[in-house]
Amino acid sequence: MAAVMEQSTMPAAPEVRIRNLSVAYQTSTGLFDAVHKLDLDIPKASITAVIGESGSGKSTLAMAMLNSVTFPGSIRSGTIEYAGRGDIVTFDRERLRRFRGEHAAMVFQASQDTLNPLKRVGAQLLDLARSHGVKDKRKVLREARELAERMALPADRTLTSYQHELSGGMRQRVSIIFALALHPQIVLLDEPTTALDVLSQSHVLEIIREIHRERGLTTLLITHDMGVVAELSDRVVVMYAGRIAEDAPSRELLRRPLHPYSQALIRAIPRLTGPLDDAQALPGAPLELRQIPKAGCVFRDRCPARMPVCDTGTPELREVAPGRRVACHLEVTP
Ligand SMILES: Nc1ncnc2c1ncn2[C@@H]1O[C@H](COP(=O)(O)OP(=O)(O)O)[C@@H](O)[C@H]1O
Ligand SMILES: [Mg+2]
Repeated sequence: MAAVMEQSTMPAAPEVRIRNLSVAYQTSTGLFDAVHKLDLDIPKASITAVIGESGSGKSTLAMAMLNSVTFPGSIRSGTIEYAGRGDIVTFDRERLRRFRGEHAAMVFQASQDTLNPLKRVGAQLLDLARSHGVKDKRKVLREARELAERMALPADRTLTSYQHELSGGMRQRVSIIFALALHPQIVLLDEPTTALDVLSQSHVLEIIREIHRERGLTTLLITHDMGVVAELSDRVVVMYAGRIAEDAPSRELLRRPLHPYSQALIRAIPRLTGPLDDAQALPGAPLELRQIPKAGCVFRDRCPARMPVCDTGTPELREVAPGRRVACHLEVTP
């Protein structure tokens, strides 16, 4: 009975469907995948968190999801299908330009530097609206003001300012306003609150959650903050060396991580409550692209559960329970 009910509440088709996605960077020592043969479905109206140490490929994945990877990077293979829109890997320049902002928008990591330094914020918003053929430009400004106020920014001053007149934290909030301006259905947020102090961080994340609900958005949130994962996200994708180590509903992953990497990652994060030194540093360092082994498990050198098969056999990302996948040779049961 339970199984039947679960099935009927499963979304029919994902909002985003990624298959066999490889994204490589050309370096002085060769071409290396930063995202490797990745398969991922993102359910409509969900908040999906992507976690993993620095260098795991999180930002590269998010940029690929707008087909925005630039030289020395490129999408080497794969498809990224948006429901009702098709595979954006095949889009030409103009279709991509329209798609970005109107259908899916991104707040880039370190986005506080992406504004045009020579124009006031309000004028840039109008430019954005114009370039996408928005008829009611006043509405765009009005909504920007409302959003600014909700995020505790002085609206008038923000819209009449130049980038250099705003603090890092203000610019980060402004970039969220830009991402939402054209009412996209999908929002990709790459560590969107790193320039904010802790209190503003939780406030802005709360606003993001509210807007996600109000607009029925599909949201992808890259974060290194487990508190954010616990409070905000429905699902979590754990990335390591350009691969998915594990993905699962957030509560299940936090309660019982199955992949040794997820386990180490969760142990390494200081709890909001309790002594700071409860956190155990992750042993070893993440791999550089050229160090990622071609065969076997990419995490084996740091794995406490390493077995002989891990040196030669590449673990498949396999479904171990509905909506839950793990790439590990261990026998795992959720
Ligand atoms: N422009 C670039 N040139 C070469 N390597 C890059 C470039 N950008 C990112 N990388 C490499 O790709 C890997 C993934 O990077 P990134 O997607 O930024 O990871 P994350 O966002 O998880 O920190 C890292 O090893 C990083 O060094
Ligand atoms: Mg990043």
